[in-house]
Amino acid sequence: MSHRDRDHLDPDDYPVNPSAEPTLGDLIERRFSRRELLRGALGAGALGALAASPLAALAGGALPAAATEPAPEAGTPSTDPTRFAFTEIARGVDATHHVAPGYSAEVLIRWGDPLLPGAPAFDPAHPNAAAQRWQFGYNNDFIGYIPLPLGSANSEHGLLCVNHEYTNTTLMFPGLADGLTREMVDAELAAHGGSIVEVRKIDGQWQVVPESPFARRIDALGTRIAIAGPAAGHPRLCTNADPSGRSVIGTLNNCAGGITPWGTYLMAEENVHLYFSGSLDDHPERENYARMGIPGARYAWAEHHPRFDINAEPNEANRFGWIVEVDPFDPLAPPVKRTALGRCKHEGAECIVNRDGRLVIYSGDDQVFEYLYRFVSDGTVTPLPDPAEETYTGYIDAAGRVRFTPASIEARIAAARAANRDLLDHGTLSVAKLDETGGLAWLPLVHGEGPLTPENGFASQADVLIETRRAATLLGATPLDRPEDVEPNPRTGKVYVSLTNNKDRGRDGKPSPDAANPRAGNLWGHLLEITPDGGDHAAASARWEVVVQAGDPNAPGVAAQWNPATSENGWFACPDNMAVDPAGRLWVATDQGGDWSRTSGGADGVWALETDGPGRGTGRMFFRVPVGAEMCGPRFTPDGRTLFVAVQHPAADGTEAYAGFARKSTFEDPATRWPDFQDGMPPRPSVVVITKDDGGEIGS
Ligand code: FEO
Ligand code: CA
Ligand code: CA
Repeated sequence: MSHRDRDHLDPDDYPVNPSAEPTLGDLIERRFSRRELLRGALGAGALGALAASPLAALAGGALPAAATEPAPEAGTPSTDPTRFAFTEIARGVDATHHVAPGYSAEVLIRWGDPLLPGAPAFDPAHPNAAAQRWQFGYNNDFIGYIPLPLGSANSEHGLLCVNHEYTNTTLMFPGLADGLTREMVDAELAAHGGSIVEVRKIDGQWQVVPESPFARRIDALGTRIAIAGPAAGHPRLCTNADPSGRSVIGTLNNCAGGITPWGTYLMAEENVHLYFSGSLDDHPERENYARMGIPGARYAWAEHHPRFDINAEPNEANRFGWIVEVDPFDPLAPPVKRTALGRCKHEGAECIVNRDGRLVIYSGDDQVFEYLYRFVSDGTVTPLPDPAEETYTGYIDAAGRVRFTPASIEARIAAARAANRDLLDHGTLSVAKLDETGGLAWLPLVHGEGPLTPENGFASQADVLIETRRAATLLGATPLDRPEDVEPNPRTGKVYVSLTNNKDRGRDGKPSPDAANPRAGNLWGHLLEITPDGGDHAAASARWEVVVQAGDPNAPGVAAQWNPATSENGWFACPDNMAVDPAGRLWVATDQGGDWSRTSGGADGVWALETDGPGRGTGRMFFRVPVGAEMCGPRFTPDGRTLFVAVQHPAADGTEAYAGFARKSTFEDPATRWPDFQDGMPPRPSVVVITKDDGGEIGS
């Protein structure tokens, strides 16, 4: 396979779950709650369209009963039912980005920009590891914001924690015709991982703080990462380079993530299969690796680094697919892979402190027909001192360690940080089973319980965690339409789940639509809302319902569901990353991949989505990325006046459908040279900072 072809495959788009058989009860008891009918785009006209759509066949007997309820009139109401006051932009696709009128969207940091003190300037003609390890990485995805000082709500000075998910070989290197050299492969490894970026708003302008002591790169080439939790040290995690099974070089495919209440940064390892090559014939991890799509062999890394050859190093791939915790306040401490949270293709790891003080982390496993997970810590979170009551400042001392002044409070901060340090090593991982009546059961993945026994190949909890997917299947988890970001809303206690798409649903013998995945050939995705029972995120059960079925509400056969107040630009396709603003409102970023011309006809972006009141299910378009890019990482400052977004892989996806270009992009011939627009400069993934021109809250 050419490098060009490798760059244009969607790694989440094919099923590896062999147990995702059609479910008993598929096609019956299709659930449309009364609430959905009242709030969805299911007025009389829409119901007519539904009857002609494939969805009608699934509606069963539920629709007539619900349809007796008064339905809203079709069309846009004269009054805005949402809490969003901005003027939306128009759907479309072109070479650059766009934001709503009255807002500014400025590039803050780009791939290759110097990050660490003394880093060299970006040289597009010669990407190399020595420079890259000191520079901002490729394909920014997750963005976390940790206010400075730690524990404060400072919205004008903080640390951005940014994931670098993967590299686009064909857009990154000139002269690929001669093949990939070791130097190029090493540059790719160095461009993965994450960056800690100190940022500050000065005179109304956000800027990267130069020579910051917090600045840090985590990469796949040289960063030593500890392995902790129940699977640490297990023989299946031991390699020739690490016979202890407790230390690994690098982290891979860091997609979304989370920020803990104690100021650490969680990186989710997603499509880790892409980096491994070799054969599964007679392989000791054959079934396990096949379930993860290993070896994916999209990259040429194994040619130069034998640990990525699953035959040369049979266990290395078991050391990826975890959640990684990074402490930005201790640059000398290695990041830690927290195995208690399971191994799969983790999309993200968003956190919420439960009412009993335990930390709850939600994570989707992003592949078609995979599952939704939840981790609940055994211990409770020890809060940091409140800087609103006790003024303190953190700094990095000459030895590279974080310190706090005044000294009188330093011991308390250190004690709180120490108390939380290994909180994620002890807890319960569960997987979601969603039933046809809107109920959700969290099924614990605990060794020795139910089918998770030696008879099924699970000799310990380590085995359960290494093969999280297989364990979840045995428990009867519900296969979903690619669970991407999972975002708890701290204001309401509800949890939003992006199910980005699944064109295989109901096709070629694959599982049929069911209540939680209601469309066959689901190209457009949908959003679920989960309401934990009793407001308890650790409860064994919850309720779920569909908020929107994405796609064009006016297109025949799409069976989209939106609030009728949604305009022609307000609907989106393929929800992915999300953010909740300080007012508790939801914002959704999209990733249509190479299918954008089919799924919406326009570029990805950020849409505000009303989830409450009469406007529930109304979308409004706020920001748009340049051609070929995906929208990642939306993150608000605590005051809601700044929104950071990550523009990932500009010029990469679906440029064959870009009018006037109509071909795949390369370094020499990209569909856009965003954001620099200079000859010879390739497109560069970048973080963009959005502010309102009058200084107000975003969306106000
Ligand atoms: Fe990396 Fe599932 O997006
Ligand atoms: Ca994503
Ligand atoms: Ca995605």
